[in-house]
Amino acid sequence: MAIPDGIIDQVQQNTDIVDVISRYVTLTKAGRNYKAPCPFHHEKTPSFIVSPDKQIYHCFGCGAGGNVFSFLMRHENMQFPETVEMLAEKAGITLPKGIARSDKAGEVENKLFSVNELAANFFASNLAGSRTAREYLASRGVADAAIKKFRIGYAQDAWESLSNFCKSKGVSMDILEQAGLVISSEKGGYYDRFRNRIMFPIMDLKNRILGFGGRVLDSSLPKYMNSPETAIYSKGRNLYGLNFSKEVIKKKGHALIVEGYLDFLVPYQAGIQNILATLGTALTVDQVKLLKRFAKTVVIVYDPDEAGESASLRGLDLFISEDVNVYIAELPKGFDPDSFIRKYGVDDFLKLVKSSKNLFDYKFAKLAGRFSTATVHGKASIVGEMLPTIAKISNAVTKSEMIKKLAAKLSVDEEAVKTELKKLKGDYAARRHTIAPAEVKRDTRKAEIVLLALLLEGGPYVDRVSHALSLEEFKDSSIRDVVSAIFTLHKANKQISPARLINVFSSEGEATMLISEAVNILDMISDKDRALEDCITRIRQDNVKERLAMLQEAIKLAHDRNDGDQVKSLVAEYGNLVRMNKT
Ligand code: UTP
Ligand code: MN
Repeated sequence: MAIPDGIIDQVQQNTDIVDVISRYVTLTKAGRNYKAPCPFHHEKTPSFIVSPDKQIYHCFGCGAGGNVFSFLMRHENMQFPETVEMLAEKAGITLPKGIARSDKAGEVENKLFSVNELAANFFASNLAGSRTAREYLASRGVADAAIKKFRIGYAQDAWESLSNFCKSKGVSMDILEQAGLVISSEKGGYYDRFRNRIMFPIMDLKNRILGFGGRVLDSSLPKYMNSPETAIYSKGRNLYGLNFSKEVIKKKGHALIVEGYLDFLVPYQAGIQNILATLGTALTVDQVKLLKRFAKTVVIVYDPDEAGESASLRGLDLFISEDVNVYIAELPKGFDPDSFIRKYGVDDFLKLVKSSKNLFDYKFAKLAGRFSTATVHGKASIVGEMLPTIAKISNAVTKSEMIKKLAAKLSVDEEAVKTELKKLKGDYAARRHTIAPAEVKRDTRKAEIVLLALLLEGGPYVDRVSHALSLEEFKDSSIRDVVSAIFTLHKANKQISPARLINVFSSEGEATMLISEAVNILDMISDKDRALEDCITRIRQDNVKERLAMLQEAIKLAHDRNDGDQVKSLVAEYGNLVRMNKT
């Protein structure tokens, strides 16, 4: 039985995050907040902030963040119900009878593992019985040996296929739901989460099945559906395929990091066995720590699309903080490891990996594409972006080499770069996140996160934003998720507090980190109304621009088809859009 929200709220209200965290970390007072060296990544200067007002913590160095529950879950490796229990006991709150005691947690976990095992076998037998599914895998170049080794299966195109099978085996629907395999319907029944999908089991280092990813066989959406966060599965704590590759990784001393299931499978099959996949999410400290046990050097092989690029850029700093050497291999535009190998073969892929750039050169090249290396302003911007990365290098010799190189590349004085680095260290947290209006206007993600920060203020801001923008207009899907949760709470007339909002999202993931990041940004926005308007305008303009580009493309296509009517109506729409957005 799950713990009622009312109890969770009560426990939270009777707990002080500063008290709890100070039991593990030495906090020093800094203004209204407390700070400390981050317990979740290696650092010397404190960038970990705890806010008593907001009851959240956030690290500006590694992005860790959350409320008191998330802190305990992460720091003490506890499950959510255990943290509630522990804090309830301290606060003198009695939990209602029937709530699973934490010593039962192990029992539940074992049940979830065994139901996943049952499901995987069922999916495997479905695959054997489905010609379409086997043909799909064959078309993706997945051989029978790989199907067997990675236990790939197929979820039938039916609403109750797995549920009925499990029922016949005496498994309770409650456990299936807790495993994320079925979803309870509003009418009171249950239906299969995964339908008509190729199923990839996600395993831990002991080869136990934690959850699944399921891919459609055609081009419908969502392309992949994944298990939700459960008592045994947390997206940010596992790496796909590591159970199969860990020994080879250890032997070779380095690991290749790719994004997708097929990007793991296809190279693995072709003999590249020091590989693992992040499953399309930004890397977390937990994942880096996990990987570090097997290799101190990683090569990130990402699609060169914008998402891949920013994912690897974000990942970079995490590796450095953890003293892992990181290289980036860039595939040609439009390719991922899977499609590259299928087109050009393994040898070319390995060549590409060999020619990977180290993080300094990679990041510098990216920045040089964004800013001019010839103007004073451009140079300052590049130095500003490179320094937070360089600051995280713990080896003094390496660090000094990097500074020298940066200064030389931009023909600026090395001492000047060092001075900037010192400034950065002095007031790291504040500097990195001060919001200049110009910045919001330039950077969509920043505009979205500033808006999120303002939404956390609740009330009138939520009204204004929800009238001005629709959810679809937010580009960053994690930000969109959080905004959506805020809108829902607001509609239900519930009070919005960051610490409570975090409970909506089960464990420390993107959403939680975003909320704590946004809370800390809030203090740095001087003119909130102005920022709100700037952000809304920026996001709107981006969407209009995108829509216009799409219309242009559609007009071209209609024109090529000689569809005069369509051209006319699209041109009219285009004109309207331009007119409406003229300011
Ligand atoms: P991609 O969109 O790059 O897909 O997502 P892919 O791996 O190339 O997929 P194929 O080759 O078309 O089969 C990369 C990874 O991000 C996750 C999956 O783990 C995927 O492998 N993802 C992607 C999702 O979880 N959900 C999605 O809707 C899309
Ligand atoms: Mn692919």
